[in-house]
Amino acid sequence: MLECDGVALGSPDYFSDMAGGMKDFFDRTYYPAQDRVTGKPCVIFGSAGGPPSVVIESLRKMAEVFKLQEAAEPVGASGTPTAAVLEECRELGRKLAEATQS
Ligand SMILES: Cc1cc2nc3c(=O)[nH]c(=O)nc-3n(C[C@H](O)[C@H](O)[C@H](O)COP(=O)(O)O)c2cc1C
Repeated sequence: MLECDGVALGSPDYFSDMAGGMKDFFDRTYYPAQDRVTGKPCVIFGSAGGPPSVVIESLRKMAEVFKLQEAAEPVGASGTPTAAVLEECRELGRKLAEATQS
């Protein structure tokens, strides 16, 4: 979190929340990163068996808590990501890369 120029936060929806590994990452990095990553660009992507909005909101909350700056609208997949969703993800990566340059 401290060294990177931008952050892409992504997770499947597991039990109406982010995956445990992601939550553990945030649990362990919060104090070391607190107020040291403010304004760093981030993008968010998520997948779910149902609507992806729940996991996206869960990740968004972490972006807010860490005071990251969302560089683009999140991308979500319901079920297996389609080719169109994968292209949206590539575009998300491009926008994140651009945001790190400005
Ligand atoms: C343990 C577990 C819990 C899940 N809980 C949910 C859920 O609450 N809501 C939902 O829409 N999908 C749920 N799913 C479906 C996953 O979100 C979906 O399979 C995932 O987005 C695909 O990523 P994966 O291949 O890494 O599992 C769950 C899947 C697993 C394995």
